[in-house]
Amino acid sequence: VNVISIGLLGLGTVGSGVVKIIEDHQDKLMHQVGCPIQVKKILVKSLDKERSIDIEPSVLTTDVDDILLDPEIDVVVEVMGGVEKTKGYLLEALNNKKHVVTANKDLMALHGAELLQTASHNGCDLFFEASVAGGIPILRSIVDGLASDKITKIMGIVNGTTNYILTKMSKNGAAYEEVLKEAQELGFAEADPTSDVEGLDAARKMAILATLGFSMEIDLDDVSVKGITSITEEDIQYGKQLGYTMKLIGMAKQDDDKVEVSVQPTMLSDSHPLAAVQNEYNAVYVCGEAVGETMFYGPGAGSLPTATSIVSDLVVVMKNMRDGVNGKSIVSPQYPKKLKADNE
Ligand code: NDP
Ligand code: HSE
Repeated sequence: VNVISIGLLGLGTVGSGVVKIIEDHQDKLMHQVGCPIQVKKILVKSLDKERSIDIEPSVLTTDVDDILLDPEIDVVVEVMGGVEKTKGYLLEALNNKKHVVTANKDLMALHGAELLQTASHNGCDLFFEASVAGGIPILRSIVDGLASDKITKIMGIVNGTTNYILTKMSKNGAAYEEVLKEAQELGFAEADPTSDVEGLDAARKMAILATLGFSMEIDLDDVSVKGITSITEEDIQYGKQLGYTMKLIGMAKQDDDKVEVSVQPTMLSDSHPLAAVQNEYNAVYVCGEAVGETMFYGPGAGSLPTATSIVSDLVVVMKNMRDGVNGKSIVSPQYPKKLKADNE
């Protein structure tokens, strides 16, 4: 292969980071995969929008077929968000034998099994490291790093926007609306931030983490969810006086064959390691029968951290292409479908 061609769906906060890392780290990437990587086409909504990075105008398109039907494009990187339309694009990409890397937790939590089956059927890779906890390589850590253990609990702060809001409300007594606006301007929040503040984004990530951690398909409907919209500054300050910090905590527990997954605002003792996780940072505790407690920490949102996970996925796809072993996705689509939860 002389060059690996990428089709990028989306050039917003994360897409711009992907282009930047591919450009800035081209030497390291060349060294790892043995040939240059070229971003051949980028799908956007508007061709006239001002961009934060320099892009040759001919690279931009509003016609997805310029990517999905281009036989020279080897990998589709999806960073546009959305569910139904995006699912259609990715199914078509996979059926056209293109590998896929996505940051889309909404899509993976709802339709991950179908997409993974389609990838497997077509001998394609489908990777989604960036969909959970931005720049923290948590999915590979669970699937590969802890492959030999039985995971019993996954607990964490997995939404950057709400952690940013709670941190600022706690530290400066800032108003909720004001800090939400800041989180949006910094590119941490979803296009519709309701999913962040109502806990849905965290629930999607917990469903993905629990599915991988417990080797069992966990539906989004099985996650009980409460967001931070009813938390007041008084609640936060009162907890603070008593030595507690308010955090939006995702929890997934497995005991024998019972699994419980939830997201809810929780008062943590200030001495708890998760209480010290600030701003858009995330942290995930993973407990295993043999390993005991492990904790993974890092930026959970933002352009370059998230793009790091995406481009690292790309490197794996490209190494697999070089070695002719694509299609061995990190999640087995054959996981048992039924969740055995307490609330069933
Ligand atoms: P942005 O809103 O910043 O960017 C979205 C991009 O997709 C824009 O370039 C937009 O085009 C393009 N786009 C959206 N809809 C369409 C469409 N129907 N047709 C063509 N182009 C479209 O989003 P983010 O970069 O923040 O997020 C992208 C994805 O990454 C989401 O799935 C998000 O959940 C996920 N993610 C985001 C993180 C973050 O920190 N922001 C972290 C981890 C995951 P145009 O520019 O013309 O408007
Ligand atoms: N809106 C998400 C968050 C982006 O704030 O965590 C990262 O997935």
